[in-house]
Amino acid sequence: MGLELAYSDDVARATEALYAKVSGVIPKIEWPAYAPVIAEINRLKRQKDAVILAHNYMTPEIFHCVGDFVGDSLALAREAARTDAKIIVQAGVHFMAETSKILSPEKTVLIPSMEAGCSLAASITGADVQLLKQKYPGLPVVTYVNTSADVKAESDICCTSGNAVKVVEAIAREFGVDTVIMIPDKYLARNVAAQTGVKVITWEGACEVHERFTAQEIRDYRTAHPGIVVLAHPECPPEVVAEADFAGSTAAMINYVGTHKPQRVVMVTECSMSDNVAVEYPQIEFVRPCNLCPHMKRITLNGILHSLQTMTFEVTVPVEIAARAKAPIDRMLAVKL
Ligand code: 13P
Ligand code: SF4
Repeated sequence: MGLELAYSDDVARATEALYAKVSGVIPKIEWPAYAPVIAEINRLKRQKDAVILAHNYMTPEIFHCVGDFVGDSLALAREAARTDAKIIVQAGVHFMAETSKILSPEKTVLIPSMEAGCSLAASITGADVQLLKQKYPGLPVVTYVNTSADVKAESDICCTSGNAVKVVEAIAREFGVDTVIMIPDKYLARNVAAQTGVKVITWEGACEVHERFTAQEIRDYRTAHPGIVVLAHPECPPEVVAEADFAGSTAAMINYVGTHKPQRVVMVTECSMSDNVAVEYPQIEFVRPCNLCPHMKRITLNGILHSLQTMTFEVTVPVEIAARAKAPIDRMLAVKL
C-alpha cells in the first residue's frame, strides 16, 4: 500500500514540479506523505494504460497531481466517451463511474470506493420514474446525471448542471410541450425553470452539500467582505442562487473566475473547489466557507493507488440497462451548447 512507499531523493526530484504547483494549498510538512504515492500512481498509470478522470471536488493532491483529465460532470462524461486508455479510474462518485462505463463499455472502469454515492442518486429509483411517467403521460423525462443507470434507462434525456437550460429547452421543443419532468433535484429543476419558459414537475431530491447553504449566509459574506463576488452552484436552493452574482456548474464557476478575475470571491459549493482554483489564481482572495461532500471525500490518494494496484473496484452495468441508459446520455451529448 501507499503508506509503505518512501520519500526518496528520486521521488522528491520526480515530484518537485508538482509540489511547486500545489505549495499554496498543501503544507510542506505533508508533502513527504503524498509524494511517493503520487509518483507510484503516475508510474502505474503509464504501465497499465490507465487514465484518471477527476472531478472538480477532488482534493488538490488528486486534482493537480494525478488527475489526467479534470472537470465537471459533463466534461468527464465527454472524456470517458473519447479516451483511448484501456482503464478509467474515476476519481469521483459512483454515478460518474457508471456513466463512464455506459459510454465506454469496452473499457475497465474502476472506482476507489464503492461507498462514494450521492444523496441525489439515492433519492430515486427506476420504478419511481415509471410511476411518474404513468402519472404524466406524454411529458419528457429530463434526468440529472446524478442518478443510477436504472433511472437513466427510464429517461428521455440526461442533463448536467452545465447544460440543463439548453437540454430542457431542446427537449420541450422536440416534444412540443411547455412542461417537462425534471428529476431528481428539486432545486436544480426550479433554478432551470426560472431561466427558461419551460415549467417543471420535479422530485423531492436534493444535494446534501448544496441544500445546506442559506440566503442569509450569502448576505453575511457580502457584509463581512465588501465587494465580494458570489458564485453558486445551481443545486443550491433558489433563494441562495437569487443572492449570487452568478450560478453555474463547477466548470462554469471556474470559467467565471478565469474570465472576470475578481479580487475576492466565494464559491458556494463543495470545499475542494476553492483550493483547486486558488492554485491557478494565487492573486485572487478566496473566502472559503464551504460544505464537504462525504461521498467525494471517500476518494483518497491511497485509495486510487490501491485501485490501480488491485484493479478494484470494477464498476459494471448490466448490458440491457446500459443500452437503455446510453440513449438519453447520447441525446444529451448531442445538444449544442
Ligand atoms: P458539476 O461538476 O457537473 O457542476 O456537478 C456538481 C456535483 O455536485 C457533482 O456531484
Ligand atoms: Fe451528490 Fe452533492 Fe456530493 Fe455532488 S456534492 S456527489 S450532488 S451529494
